Amino acid sequence: MPLVVLVGAQWGDEGKGKLVDHFAGEADVVVRFQGGNNAGHTLVVDDEQVIVHLIPSGILHRGKLCLIGNGVVIDPQVLCEEIANLRARHYFDDDSRLVISTRAHLIMPYHRRLDQASENRKGDQKIGTTGRGIGPAYSDKMARTGLRFHHLLDEQRLPDRIRSLVAEKSTYLQQVWGESPLNAEEVILEFLGYARCLAPYAGEVSRVLDEQLGQGKRVLFEGAQGTMLDIDHGTYPFVTSSNTVAGAACTGAGVGPRQIDKVIGITKAYTTRVGGGPFPTELQDEIGASLRERGKEFGATTGRPRRCGWLDAFALNYARRVNGLTEIMITKLDVLTGLGPIRICVGYQCQGRILEDYPPDLETLEACEPVWEELPGWPESLRASRSFGSLPRPAQAYVRRIEQLVKVPVAAISIGPEREETVVIRHPFE
Ligand code: IMP
Repeated sequence: MPLVVLVGAQWGDEGKGKLVDHFAGEADVVVRFQGGNNAGHTLVVDDEQVIVHLIPSGILHRGKLCLIGNGVVIDPQVLCEEIANLRARHYFDDDSRLVISTRAHLIMPYHRRLDQASENRKGDQKIGTTGRGIGPAYSDKMARTGLRFHHLLDEQRLPDRIRSLVAEKSTYLQQVWGESPLNAEEVILEFLGYARCLAPYAGEVSRVLDEQLGQGKRVLFEGAQGTMLDIDHGTYPFVTSSNTVAGAACTGAGVGPRQIDKVIGITKAYTTRVGGGPFPTELQDEIGASLRERGKEFGATTGRPRRCGWLDAFALNYARRVNGLTEIMITKLDVLTGLGPIRICVGYQCQGRILEDYPPDLETLEACEPVWEELPGWPESLRASRSFGSLPRPAQAYVRRIEQLVKVPVAAISIGPEREETVVIRHPFE
C-alpha cells in the first residue's frame, strides 16, 4: 500500500492534521496537492500547539520528506514565515526535507486585496472566504495570467513581470472596487526577498514522487479543506476554489490515478462548517453551542467560530462516491460524550420527497429537511480507550451505524487531541 490519499469528507476542519501527524510516522513522504494557506492544521505535540498552513504536517517528524505540489497556491510571505517558525522551534533543520514544485502558482498581494474587496461588497451573500487571496490566485491560474514559482526564481525577468501585473490589477482595483492601487516597486523588492528564501526548496515534485515510489517508499497525500468545499462537487458557490477530492492528488502533484492504493476520508463524529452556505444538519440551539464549546470549534486560520450540527451521513455517502473512499476515519468522537441521545442525518427530504442525489443547487438545499435517526449516547469518557472493544457499547454502535450508512469500514477513531489518543483499527499502509 505505498500511496495513500487522505481527504476531508465534510466542509473542512475534520481533524486531518492530527491524523496525518499520527500516521506520518509510518510514511516516508507527505504531500500537499491543493489549496493554500486557507488551510490550517492544528497539531499538539508534547503539550505544545503547532499550526501549519502550507507545509505538510509530516514536517514535525524528523527525516520525512515533505512535498508541495503544483496544485497548491503559495503565498510566499506565509511560507517563508512558516519555515522560519518551524526552524526556530527545531522542527525543520534540513533543507532537503522540503521540495516545492516550480509549477505551483503564487498568491500575490493583489490577490488578497481582490479577495477582500469582492467579499466586502457582497453583503449577506458573502462566501465567508478566509480572505487569503485563494480564489483570485486560482482564477489567474485558469485565466493563464498567474505567476508561478519558477517565475519568482527568474530574478532578471521578475521585476518586469510584476510591474505589468500590478499595473493591470491596480487598474481593476481602482476602477471596479474603488480601492487604492499597489506600489509595484515595493512588491518587487518584497518578492526578490522571497525568491532568496524559497530557492533552496525548488524542485520537480512529480519526478521526486516517481523516484520515491520506484524505491518502494510510502507516500501520504494530505488533502486540505473538504469534499463539500470542492469547486465542482461541493455546495457551489459556497466552496473554495480548488478541487479538494482525491482525484486532485493526481493533477496537483503529477502522479497517475493507478498509483493510488487507498483513499481515506476523514470525518468528525458530528459536522462543522465555517463561512456561509448551506448546512442542512446545523444546530442553532444549545446542543450546537455545546458542540462548539466542547470541540473548541474555532477556525485554525481565521479564529472564526464554526457552525456545528449533527453528523450528515447522506453527505458522507456522497463524499464516499466522489472520492472513491476505501475507508473512513472518525475524529472527535470524545466530544459527543455526555451529550445524551445522538442524531444522524440519513437522508434529505424535500417537499415530501426523499432525495436520491446530493442536490447541486442552493434552492433545493435550502428547502431540504434532514431525515433523522436517533441513537443512544454514552456518559463515560473515551480518552483512555486504545481499542475499539474498549469503547462504551453505544459509542461502538454509533461507529458501526456510520459504517453501514457510508458503506465503507472505519479504520481509525480519534478520541482526544493528543497523538496517542487514537484507536487504530487498520493502519493506512497495511
Ligand atoms: P477560500 O478558500 O478562502 O476562498 O474560502 C472559501 C470557503 O471555504 C469559505 O467558506 C471558507 O470558510 C472555506 N474554507 C477554506 N479553507 C478552509 C479550511 O481549511 N477549513 C474550513 N473551511 C475552509
